[in-house]
Amino acid sequence: MDHKMELNKTRRKFLRMLAASPVLAGSHLFSNSVTNLLAAGEVTERKFRDWLENFQQSGDQITSPDQVLDVMDFEPLARKVVPPAHFGYLATGVDDDDTVRANHEAYSRIQIRARRLVNAENVDMSRTLFGTKWDTPIVLSPVSAQKAFHPDGELGVARAAGAKGHLMMLSTVATASIEDALAASGKPVWQQLYPTNVWEITQAIVKRAERAGSPAIVLTVDLHDGSNRETLFRAQRVDKRECSMCHMGSYSPFARGRTGAIAAPASAGFANYIARKPMFNGLDVSKVNALHPLDLNWDFVKRLRDTVTVKLLIKGIVTREDAQLAVEHGSDGLIVSNHGGRAEETLRSTIESLPEVIDGVGGKVPVLVDGGVRRGTDIFKALALGATAVGFGRPHSWGLAAFGQAGVEAVLEIYRRELRNIMRQAGTTSVEKITRAYVTPSR
Ligand SMILES: Cc1cc2nc3c(=O)[nH]c(=O)nc-3n(C[C@H](O)[C@H](O)[C@H](O)COP(=O)(O)O)c2cc1C
Repeated sequence: MDHKMELNKTRRKFLRMLAASPVLAGSHLFSNSVTNLLAAGEVTERKFRDWLENFQQSGDQITSPDQVLDVMDFEPLARKVVPPAHFGYLATGVDDDDTVRANHEAYSRIQIRARRLVNAENVDMSRTLFGTKWDTPIVLSPVSAQKAFHPDGELGVARAAGAKGHLMMLSTVATASIEDALAASGKPVWQQLYPTNVWEITQAIVKRAERAGSPAIVLTVDLHDGSNRETLFRAQRVDKRECSMCHMGSYSPFARGRTGAIAAPASAGFANYIARKPMFNGLDVSKVNALHPLDLNWDFVKRLRDTVTVKLLIKGIVTREDAQLAVEHGSDGLIVSNHGGRAEETLRSTIESLPEVIDGVGGKVPVLVDGGVRRGTDIFKALALGATAVGFGRPHSWGLAAFGQAGVEAVLEIYRRELRNIMRQAGTTSVEKITRAYVTPSR
């Protein structure tokens, strides 16, 4: 018998043994699938490995949040329970989704330089932001329309953020108001701001958030209407439900894909769409035809700065030049972000953009970063490269979709546990001590 035949025989024997194994007796799915695989004949190692990987990631074994090992485990769980079009909305990037992947993959090119023989009995993960001391530098980035993932929506996220002691940012187009989010969290919640094309609307949202007690306004500047979200469009095509049952009017961010056209929201239905969002309640939205208008510029930032009495941050800055301009225009802080790869396909990750933004601000204001953060080690690396705090978007929606508030709490717990772990392992006993010297290239 030649070597190849011998190898195949061994593999088949192994698979048969696996299918019959008492260890897997409780998992019908697993043993049935192995049997199917055997019946299919040609079992290559590659096929088996791919299959095993799919199985492991399928989430079939996980029935409660405490069984989840890392935040990525929540993604397949969410995919199972969220309708395809809504999951497409959550997952989508633009064009080929390469910037989504780039955000995450860039972290794997940064190595950690672990120091030894440092007493790591006590680890202090706390971070102070604008005078508020938080247990950790881990923050929840704004995600719109979270009731599309779970009926608890943003209030489930806010309750989890409050229970675990994390800063949350609330989207302008959230399905909850800032008043309710603040009450649910019991902790400061920052109000994210899409400017819209009508200044009076912008002003009204800012003033409402300030009155409610939100200590910061976060102006998002990285998105223009009409970004090419192909994954969303494709997901929409396979979703056979009737969208108009829930999405009254002719516009919804989920409703574009049927025709494949990138609809400009400047339609009659757009005003209906935003009128249903709590932050627009009571406002005359009849003239609003854009959330993020094309003519937005630094004059707008100046005008906004003159209006906002709390802290003003700009989210979506990725270059040194813009970082400098933002500081010159009175921004109190920046968030390095590319909208989770949902705005434009630059292929440039946010963690690679962070150092030049840090250079640009010259230490004058705090710089946060989000995009592709999936491990405590990613948070550690971002802190080492100078981030004041580190955010994440999709994972809190995965947790929410899978288990409501408890799922979001579990996501937060995992990030905290992993950060604490790597801080100990690398010999950094406080967040302040995580410096550039702890990652490569060090300088
Ligand atoms: C479904 C979804 C909705 C989002 N909505 C908003 C939003 O309303 N405002 C905003 O500034 N950013 C929004 N973002 C971007 C996030 O705040 C954050 O920058 C991004 O998700 C970080 O990347 P990550 O998902 O890889 O962690 C959204 C992201 C997703 C995935």
